[in-house]
Amino acid sequence: MIVQAQIPIWIDCDPGQDDIVAITLAAYNPHLNLVGVSTVHGNATLDYTTRNALRFLTALNKMDVPVYPGSSKSLQGNIDGAPEVHGKTGLNGSKLLPEPMYAAKDHSDFFPALKRQIEKFKGQLCIAAIAPMTNIALFFRKYPELKKQIRFLTIMGGGFDLFNRNGVAEFNIFDDSQAAQEVLEDDILAQHILLAPLDTTSTVRATAEIRNKVLASQSVAKASNFRALMYELVHFFYLKVKERKGPDYAGPSVHDPVAIASLLETCGFEKELDCKYIRRAIDVVIDGKEDGATKMLSDKVHPERAVKILIDLNREKFWKVILNAYVEADKNAYINGVDRQKLIEEYRP
Ligand code: RIB
Ligand code: CA
Repeated sequence: MIVQAQIPIWIDCDPGQDDIVAITLAAYNPHLNLVGVSTVHGNATLDYTTRNALRFLTALNKMDVPVYPGSSKSLQGNIDGAPEVHGKTGLNGSKLLPEPMYAAKDHSDFFPALKRQIEKFKGQLCIAAIAPMTNIALFFRKYPELKKQIRFLTIMGGGFDLFNRNGVAEFNIFDDSQAAQEVLEDDILAQHILLAPLDTTSTVRATAEIRNKVLASQSVAKASNFRALMYELVHFFYLKVKERKGPDYAGPSVHDPVAIASLLETCGFEKELDCKYIRRAIDVVIDGKEDGATKMLSDKVHPERAVKILIDLNREKFWKVILNAYVEADKNAYINGVDRQKLIEEYRP
């Protein structure tokens, strides 16, 4: 049997209760090799998203994955945040989140490090953009020649009939619409883009049944520290969104890992995910009342910059892939070797 090499992946994120599900998948799916993480403003300020990435990678026992702080604000100088969904820190909900066991890299080495990885993997490196795309836009402004040297740029973002910001936009696009326009309307990057829009990611919900499978125990007290952490974070996410959605809310959409699942299936792995795509060019509206809106063009308009848009996947198989990664993470998690009371006593927001 030919064993396919792992997919090297770099994640640009704003952890975020759904970002950490994506990080777990990238860190513990057997077909992925997580070579780097960069952080950006978004669900919380850059200080928090960077601290959250370091804390969570510590919890996962993946302190070998370097974390590079990126942009603290959008190209237009805005800082938005989503405390109503993710909490003030961007990753509230559990006192089992440890202090980081390692430091972030220097911001000044972020772009050179990503450039080194792209050149090292000779066209095979995949980038996952699961946050506002400020870092991505600035990186390819600096190194335009590297646009054609990545394999895929898998993005969680955009909304065509579903929105969660501004009435007409999705958060990652809205939070830096200028950056999103530079990336999504670029005819070289377009050849490499897989886009998981809100219309599709919002159908993937962490229902009570899924949340119980995350816990995999009769109670939080009896679960491992890792599973208790993941359960408490997703439960917090559920309660925050339920406050606004009402009592019969099925469960929070875990948007970001859908972009990683789409990449896996596109690269020939986890084929049971059965991802369905259409190819269309997208216009991003910047400024004005429709700031951040993403307009899908007809298939005859700007075919040179059409991107692959994920329109469906097998949700049951998606959760199987996610929960398989949790099994592997649970075997290796650093926090499973730490006394729970100690984690709780040492917890700082
Ligand atoms: O709209 C969903 C996106 O916004 C996700 O990336 C979530 O983490 C938030 O950043
Ligand atoms: Ca995110």
